[in-house]
Amino acid sequence: MKTDLEKSPRFQQTQQRRDFLGIAATWSAIATVCVALMGALRLPIPWAFPESSRRVKLGSPSLFQGIAITPLPEERLWIFSDSQGLYAMSAICTHLGCVVARQENGSFFCPCHGSRFDAQGKVVKGPAPKGLIHLSLTLSTDGQLVVDHDKEVGSDVRLQA
Ligand code: FES
Repeated sequence: MKTDLEKSPRFQQTQQRRDFLGIAATWSAIATVCVALMGALRLPIPWAFPESSRRVKLGSPSLFQGIAITPLPEERLWIFSDSQGLYAMSAICTHLGCVVARQENGSFFCPCHGSRFDAQGKVVKGPAPKGLIHLSLTLSTDGQLVVDHDKEVGSDVRLQA
């Protein structure tokens, strides 16, 4: 049997709000546990939840050949062309991940903490612990230039397209 207080509209509203908040909190907790479980499963079983590929088609190699440097800000890299072929260098600073800027003399400067890199991406001044990363370039089956953001190569590696 309900008391007069329990029958009042204000009491009913308060109860409904509490029920809603309780249900919302329960589902939030369930979602959090599910996401944490997926992350925990990914460590021993990487194929269970594969990462998306970070290989990106950049277009025909002819777009870059003969042009000393082509900035691709959306990919945060540069494509270079020299007498030996094409190569890609990341624009992401190896210190804490800021995007570096190219100077007029061809060197690179990180605006976040002042690291400097020479024209080949080697560290000239820290705190960056290592040089700018050179990324793998390949050709796809349809003849497009492909950069793999997950595959580092040596600074002397060139793609001859
Ligand atoms: S992020 Fe480039 S120097 Fe710190």
